[in-house]
Amino acid sequence: GISARDFVELISMLAYTSTGSELSCAEEVLFEDKYLSPEVQSNLHEGYKLYPLRANDFERGYLDVLSVLTEVGDHTVETWNSQFQFMKKHNDTYFTVTITDEKSDRIAATGTILIEHKFVHKNGLVGHIEDIAVDSSHQGKKLGLRIIEALKFIGQLTGCYKVILDCSVKNIPFYEKCGFTPKESQMAWYI
Ligand code: ACO
Repeated sequence: GISARDFVELISMLAYTSTGSELSCAEEVLFEDKYLSPEVQSNLHEGYKLYPLRANDFERGYLDVLSVLTEVGDHTVETWNSQFQFMKKHNDTYFTVTITDEKSDRIAATGTILIEHKFVHKNGLVGHIEDIAVDSSHQGKKLGLRIIEALKFIGQLTGCYKVILDCSVKNIPFYEKCGFTPKESQMAWYI
């Protein structure tokens, strides 16, 4: 048999991957790499890389990027971790992608697709795109478009019959460039 201590040691050894000559700790990710579009990855300009949301993205300024959207609130690493772990527990529903500026190791752009299970369309799935944000210093470099392409890929791979989103009138031309068309109206009830 193997002792609990040896087992823990073995698992932590397996969490280390060799990158070239140095060893680096494999970081916890929200979902598997198979959900990352290879096409989007290869269309990114040099220095940018597509990732699933990662446990240490708090340190990479993830919430600063989100603040271009709305009030993010005062977070601590604990409030970050509890939300990350919630999403990870439900990672057939929450798919958040990021594009990292590899030189600075800071988040440049992000977006999320939520996969909703329905009875209609014979247990159909609908993808809801949410929280698209590109850091102001990286806007206008097609990162928003790449994020949407990456989320559409996840929508297709999970088997959604449609992908929808809400946006401001100002952003309609951007989403049209990403292949979306206006459909009906958005309603809101604030509590
Ligand atoms: N009006 C008209 N065209 C636009 C706009 C706009 N507001 N924004 C982008 N485009 C066009 C670009 O010119 C480009 O066109 P081209 O291919 O002809 O050159 C194309 O759309 C792709 O633009 P990107 O460079 O990918 O845009 P960017 O990386 O700046 O991302 C985004 C666009 C996401 C709107 C970004 O500016 C941003 O983060 N804004 C602030 C936050 C925000 O509004 N997020 C969306 C909220 S809605 C939601 O989350 C569902």
